Amino acid sequence: MQRIATDRVIIVGAGLGALSAALRLAPHPVVLISPERLGEGASSAWAQGGVAAAMAAADTPEAHAADTIRAGAGTVDAGVAHRVTAAAPGHIESLTRLGTPFDRDASGGYVLSREAAHSFARVVRVKGDQAGAEIMRALVAEVRRAGSVQVLEGAMATGLEVAGGTVTGVVVESADPAGSEPVFIAAPAILLAGGGSAGLYALTTNPPRIRGQVIGLAARAGAVIADAEFVQFHPTAIDAGEEPAPLATEALRGEGAILVNRHGCRFMAGIHPDAELAPRDIVARAIHAEWRQGNRPMLDTRAALGASFLTRFPAVAAACARAGIDPVTERIPVAAAAHYHMGGIATDAAGRASLGNLWVCGEAASTGLHGANRLASNGLLEALVYAETCAEGIAATLPAPRSAAPVMPEFRPGGVPVDPEAVARLRQVMTADVGLIRDEKGLRSALATIAALEARHGDSATFRNMTATATLIAAAALMREESRGAHFRSDFPRAADTARRSRLTLAEAMARR
Ligand code: SIN
Repeated sequence: MQRIATDRVIIVGAGLGALSAALRLAPHPVVLISPERLGEGASSAWAQGGVAAAMAAADTPEAHAADTIRAGAGTVDAGVAHRVTAAAPGHIESLTRLGTPFDRDASGGYVLSREAAHSFARVVRVKGDQAGAEIMRALVAEVRRAGSVQVLEGAMATGLEVAGGTVTGVVVESADPAGSEPVFIAAPAILLAGGGSAGLYALTTNPPRIRGQVIGLAARAGAVIADAEFVQFHPTAIDAGEEPAPLATEALRGEGAILVNRHGCRFMAGIHPDAELAPRDIVARAIHAEWRQGNRPMLDTRAALGASFLTRFPAVAAACARAGIDPVTERIPVAAAAHYHMGGIATDAAGRASLGNLWVCGEAASTGLHGANRLASNGLLEALVYAETCAEGIAATLPAPRSAAPVMPEFRPGGVPVDPEAVARLRQVMTADVGLIRDEKGLRSALATIAALEARHGDSATFRNMTATATLIAAAALMREESRGAHFRSDFPRAADTARRSRLTLAEAMARR
């Protein structure tokens, strides 16, 4: 393997956390490892709702923290929740200064959407449902202008090297499916910001490449993984055969859209006092139950929005048009789809992982903010806040900024491509046995199948990263003998008296296979 060294900080990923951290680290030189062209392929760009922040006159960061803690079902780190929500308004102002065109009302205030389990309308938005895309557009432009940031497009991190408990560098391969010889790049600090794991499931809202690889590569290097069992399913993915499934943002329900089944029954009204705006895990399980019973759950926006749907939610309208659905006159078929991994690489308050020299932000991290059920639109917020925290922490470990030569790996064809059929099988197993409803028998069977798939296809490092994360999710789900937030065990349907977070290494998880 070619081995090179750089004075640049390596950032793995190209979503909101990665780009924000690169800019916050300036003028320290950085190299971003991005599988796609910058701005493409990151989950952040697909976020519709927006960023949660207490911007309304009557709202407060304390109320935002209280909602976050309540939604998280007993496992949110209250200190983290208070710190992140207090920082939120400042991050909205920073994004505004960078050129994000947040929607404004007649008096210039931010237009705020209402989403489930928030006690206020609190989600800043852009062009109705395009917050992620527009925030990313502003950041990509800034990163392209920044002289300190080198972007290695078409490259994928597949491993970490560790010496004496400290990460020394990253193994990188060409993202070309034909594969290539890996290259090892030694660096003074490594920040993982490469997204979550929801693409490990067959029905997902995540971009195609987001399949737990970054959590997996850290786990394979020995990092502790926290709350791996908590995978959030979004209740209203559009169920019309598109892969990945397009989202119908929760803000639609915030505007009064209702959920009905094919018999016209508004089923959420009998399940929770907040009906369609009940916590996301409850709505997702109700949708799943209707779906499994063949009752075809649907989102009905007609009375709430009428023709204004088309201009107020253009991204969802475009997805409906692709599926041949007219939301002005028709109901939208929906299904619960894997959306966000609350668990991830365990970090401390500074964003440091359990291995030296390794920092994490964004969905790959488990900071303690989300607990067992993430509050809507807290994901982008967490990425922004921890990108800044990590950048400050990393900068404090570096010598004074100085220029660094670009990193020039030579990728040579010859690596091992991932077998698409093995990935499809892995996603099937995760959906069938490690999905919304779990039990011991299914989880044990999933662990055995994941082990068999890994044995057969494990010569691809990328696939091993996926199976590592899948193993951690299934093992943590097996070990949590209760139901809490997004984790529901049909054989342990009640919550335990005491709430606890889980922490697991890959070795411990593999011992359950
Ligand atoms: C949505 O717009 O419904 C998704 C927001 C989120 O998952 O945070």
